[in-house]
Amino acid sequence: MKTVTTVAAVREQVRAWRAQGLRIAFVPTMGNLHAGHISLLAAARHRGDRVIASIFVNPLQFGPGEDFGRYPRTLEADRKLLEDAHCDLLFAPTVEELYGDNGSQRTLVSVRGLSEILCGEFRPGHFDGVATVVAKLFGIVAPDVAVFGEKDFQQFMVIRLMVRDLAMPVEVVGAPTVRAPDGLALSSRNGYLSAAERARAPAMHQALLAAVQKLADGERDYAAIQREGWQALERAGMKPDYFAIRSALDLSAADTHSHELVVLTAARLGGARLIDNLRVSVPR
Ligand code: PAJ
Repeated sequence: MKTVTTVAAVREQVRAWRAQGLRIAFVPTMGNLHAGHISLLAAARHRGDRVIASIFVNPLQFGPGEDFGRYPRTLEADRKLLEDAHCDLLFAPTVEELYGDNGSQRTLVSVRGLSEILCGEFRPGHFDGVATVVAKLFGIVAPDVAVFGEKDFQQFMVIRLMVRDLAMPVEVVGAPTVRAPDGLALSSRNGYLSAAERARAPAMHQALLAAVQKLADGERDYAAIQREGWQALERAGMKPDYFAIRSALDLSAADTHSHELVVLTAARLGGARLIDNLRVSVPR
């Protein structure tokens, strides 16, 4: 695996591969890689002849007071994991390489509406930061296909809409959430949890499972199911931001005509903000 840090070096390698008619698959990350990220690499391998990963802790998507400064940066361990996952090229730029001097990035990509609900309500500007960096990385890497985790379901939807609206020639593929044996979705932010908090964290997945079970059983009192989910999180010592039943097609409020649903939640536990979701098809 080759590691490059400049835009010019990525473009040079991609040009050479394209000249050979090879298909490029791309997995953008912020590093501190775990089995969830590695599953995306495996999905990318199936869809492309060459796999490119990026590691970039993107300052644009962190709000003031969020964890940009303390976000775990573990480049050497990440490189080893990527090697083992048969990644062909790692792009690990500096902030200066991507954004130049402070303030020289003038263009923002904003997927209106979808970026202001759910996590967007609690992290203003977050999804603009995500959409902007992903658009920029797509412009640099020019992949045929890019893989994103459904663990960040709203992010996945934002990227898909952006690609559609801006007619970007990239196929966006989702990959299922990878979990610890106790159900907790793997996340770099789980490292912020104390041992006692980590022991309580699977309550989030359990609350989602309970909600999904009720929906699958035909329960239609969404407000009650959301309230019960919220209370389950509180009982586990979490401070919920939301526990919401939405249409899986566009994250709009679920009504009784929606059959493809997703239950999404975000909550703070100690110094970590955890998110998770589960999809469910309800009986007609
Ligand atoms: P990061 O949190 O590093 O995640 C990179 C990719 O891994 C995302 O597509 C995310 O959904 C996926 N992922 C994380 N945990 C996962 C899990 N347990 N199972 C499956 N997939 C998982 O998401 C970002 O970085 C950034 O916002 C980024 C898209 C790179 C833009 O900066």
